[in-house]
Parts: sequence; C-alpha cells; structure tokens
Amino acid sequence: MFRTIKNFLALFTGAPQSASRTGLPETLKLIFNRRSCRSFSTDEIAPQDIEAILDAGRFAPSTVNLQTWSFITFDRGQWQQTFGRPIPFKGAYAIVICADRHRLGGLLEDLSGTPAVNMSLAVFNAGLAAMNMNLAAEALGIRSIMLSETGRTGLLDTAFLVEKLNLPEGVLPLTTLVLGRSSMQMPGIPPRQPRDAVVMPQRYNADCPGLLADWFDQMFIGFKIGHPFSNFDRQLAFYRTKMLEAEQAVRRYFGR
Ligand SMILES: Cc1cc2nc3c(=O)[nH]c(=O)nc-3n(C[C@H](O)[C@H](O)[C@H](O)COP(=O)(O)O)c2cc1C
Repeated sequence: MFRTIKNFLALFTGAPQSASRTGLPETLKLIFNRRSCRSFSTDEIAPQDIEAILDAGRFAPSTVNLQTWSFITFDRGQWQQTFGRPIPFKGAYAIVICADRHRLGGLLEDLSGTPAVNMSLAVFNAGLAAMNMNLAAEALGIRSIMLSETGRTGLLDTAFLVEKLNLPEGVLPLTTLVLGRSSMQMPGIPPRQPRDAVVMPQRYNADCPGLLADWFDQMFIGFKIGHPFSNFDRQLAFYRTKMLEAEQAVRRYFGR
C-alpha cells in the first residue's frame, strides 16, 4: 500500500528522474523537456519551420552516409484526402517516416545477400532522422508526437499504410511524426526506468527485474488514470492482435 502511494505521488508530480537540471545547456533542456503532445490547436505551422524540421531529418547521421529514409509529408487537407479523416490529435502537419531500401536498391546490389542487416540499419537510420526532426520541432516551439499505432499511423499498420501510400518494395513505414501548436499544460513526465536498470557499467546486468518494480507500478497506475473505464488485459489483447498482424507484414522486410 505504501509503495502504491509512493508510486502514485511520483507519477503525479512527474518527479525528475534525471541528473540535476539547473544550468544545463539549451539542447539538454530541450531533450529533458520534450513531451509527446496529444492535443493540438487549429494554428498552422509556417512553411519555413516545416522546411527546417525536414532538413533536420535529412541532416541526421547514417550508416556509411546512406540516408536510408524517406519522409512522406501531409498538411491537414492532404491527410484528410488520403485517409478520410483528420490528422490524429488534430495535428497541423504529419510526416510518415519510412525506412527506405528502395531508393538505393539498384546501387546496392552487392549487399543484397544480407537483407536482415540492411533493413536493421535502415530502421536505425530512419529512427535517428525521426528524432532529429522531433528535436528540431521542439527547438522551434512546435509540439509533436510520434505514432506507431494510434490512427493507423505506423509500424503496427504496415500493410494498411503500404497499400494507402502505394509504397514500393523495401519501404517500411515506421512512424508518423505529428506536428502542431498547443498551449496545453503537459501532464507529469511518464515514468522512466531507473538508471541502474538501464546503464550497465562494463557488463550486461541480467538481474535487474527487481529494479523495475516501481516503474511497472507507475506505468500501471498511469494506465488506470488515463483509461479509468478500460481494462489492462483487454488493452493487452488488443495490442497482441495488432502486433501479430504487423508481424506478418514486417517479416518480409527482413528477408524471412
Ligand atoms: C516510435 C514511437 C511510436 C509511438 N506510438 C504512439 C502511439 O501510437 N500512440 C500514442 O499515444 N503515443 C505513441 N508514442 C508516444 C509514447 O507513448 C511516448 O513517447 C512515451 O509514453 C513517453 O512519453 P513522452 O514522449 O511524453 O516522454 C510513440 C512514441 C514513439 C517514439
């Protein structure tokens, strides 16, 4: 009981879970203050800001500088036209970020014998581009969220997106970065796993489950607060079904 109260309070206050935040450089402040936003205003984003965000993605580092990513962009009207509904959370702009082995396909025939490695690298590189864009948006005062499921926007709806966006072979839709303005006060930061469970000096620590008890508790309490009329097991069953569907669609990208 004491633990539940302690974890509820930690969750409620969004207790800082990083090192001291005073005197941090601006970039670190951005990283620690970034939050996923789930409610956007009707304001638009200036074209030059969109361009800067997309360029931040293009300037991300990548394996052998191969830039194995594509960004498919939508304003509100374009999203509505394509998907028949508004951008999730009423965002102003959306970028479907794909791992892309198609564009360089012809150039990379020598590497065609290692599809799983190639795709893993493409996914990793596209993830770096996604995060660059996410932080660029923060720096411009634009709020954002990455989606993989909500509104059929990412990896968990691969088959749907491949068909809707007519994606060629080797282009895997990973996530949609939704951008917009919002003056909403963000709730406390979702609980992070403790540093000792994640950072492992010198060797892998396989005995960390005990360290995760508070984190799991906080996640569960957070779910209950966010979904008072829902049931955790039902939610889990929903994800399991979606993930099994996605598994079929994603496997072929990794050459199996
Ligand atoms: C690749 C990716 C996919 C995500 N997909 C969803 C999603 O489908 N729906 C959603 O509400 N949040 C989604 N999120 C947001 C996470 O839930 C969020 O990042 C996490 O809870 C931590 O909260 P924070 O971003 O505010 O720090 C996604 C985040 C990432 C990075």
